[in-house]
Amino acid sequence: MASHQVSFTYLSQEDLLEAGCFDLRMAMEVAEKTMIAFEEHRVLFPEKIVQIFDPVAQDRINCLPATLLDEKICGVKWVSVFPRNPKMYDVQNLSAMFILSEIEKGFPVAVMEGTLASNMRVAAMGGIAAKHLARKDSQSIGFIGAGEQAKMHLLAMKVVRPGLKECRVAAKTAAEEQQFIKELSPLLPDMKFTGTNTVARDAMQNADILVTATSAQAPLLKAEWMKPGAFYSHIGGWEDEYQVALQCEKIVCDDWDTVTHRTQTLSRMYKEGLLSHGDIYADLHELVSGHKPGRESESERIYFNAVGLAYVDVAIALAMYKRADSSHIGQRLDLQKTMVFEHQDIISRIRL
Ligand SMILES: NC(=O)c1ccc[n+]([C@@H]2O[C@H](COP(=O)([O-])OP(=O)(O)OC[C@H]3O[C@@H](n4cnc5c(N)ncnc54)[C@H](O)[C@@H]3O)[C@@H](O)[C@H]2O)c1
Repeated sequence: MASHQVSFTYLSQEDLLEAGCFDLRMAMEVAEKTMIAFEEHRVLFPEKIVQIFDPVAQDRINCLPATLLDEKICGVKWVSVFPRNPKMYDVQNLSAMFILSEIEKGFPVAVMEGTLASNMRVAAMGGIAAKHLARKDSQSIGFIGAGEQAKMHLLAMKVVRPGLKECRVAAKTAAEEQQFIKELSPLLPDMKFTGTNTVARDAMQNADILVTATSAQAPLLKAEWMKPGAFYSHIGGWEDEYQVALQCEKIVCDDWDTVTHRTQTLSRMYKEGLLSHGDIYADLHELVSGHKPGRESESERIYFNAVGLAYVDVAIALAMYKRADSSHIGQRLDLQKTMVFEHQDIISRIRL
């Protein structure tokens, strides 16, 4: 008789770290490969489902599915964003899980912690963009925002631009800047870190690479601080004045069509009639596949905005699962040992 046991692997964040999955090079390689698969229509990418529980606070849980047809894997990211958590409960505002299923029999393969893959994806996309769009001789990077995304972004930027040797950071409080420096400086010992005591101009002016990763909704980055030749990676919502995008020679998105439906600076500009489809140079996959060139001169100012592509999250989660599995890391859990009516003791378990 066929076995009706169904099992999957459970991976906590600690399992993923133990298995060496905190690897931004791996994340970037996977993201690039998956963007090409997407361009060649080998990815299913339906709309995400959003459930907002408090329209003012924006407490929400989103469900983001995608299928990687080459890998025969369907996955979903289940992500909670509760912006008030840090202030109200002194806990993080984000938690996430992935479920990965194979699509031959449709059975689950893995259930895993999701913030690591998700935050690595954001950074990986910024890193890939920088690889194509930042000057090769970039030495300085400036940040407005010193949270989780900013930290990951710095690591990814250093992978693609190892010549970076100076990092300046501005956050809402000097204490956050110091925390950023305390956590990142041991990981990047060849870089010089400077906190700016919340003065954004000091972080951004003359930087070769500029990153905004804030929870603010305000035009924090001023156009005059972005020098010719600079590359700007925009991660949060509304964080830069409109003139920043207007002065850039190239604007690249992870997916412009998605950007038009969101609330980022570029989305606002589109809705206000200040930007149109023709103003967007490319989606990132077009640079990765070589269909369009990236940076073409040393003096171009270039703007990159990513809103997040769940199929890349799923691909990174799958790569993590494979790496963990090859080291036998993770817990094997049974979804069921057999079919309900095959249980020998079903008569004593059923309530009629
Ligand atoms: N583009 C994407 O794919 C993507 C994915 C995940 C998160 N995000 C967004 O990235 C942003 C940052 O996320 P995070 O997890 O790092 O958040 P976080 O809460 O860890 O950090 C937010 C940072 O913003 C700073 N900040 C807030 N207001 C500021 C101000 N007025 N001036 C200077 N700094 C200010 C804070 O000091 C803090 O350092 C959020 O808006 C989040 O929604 C984007």
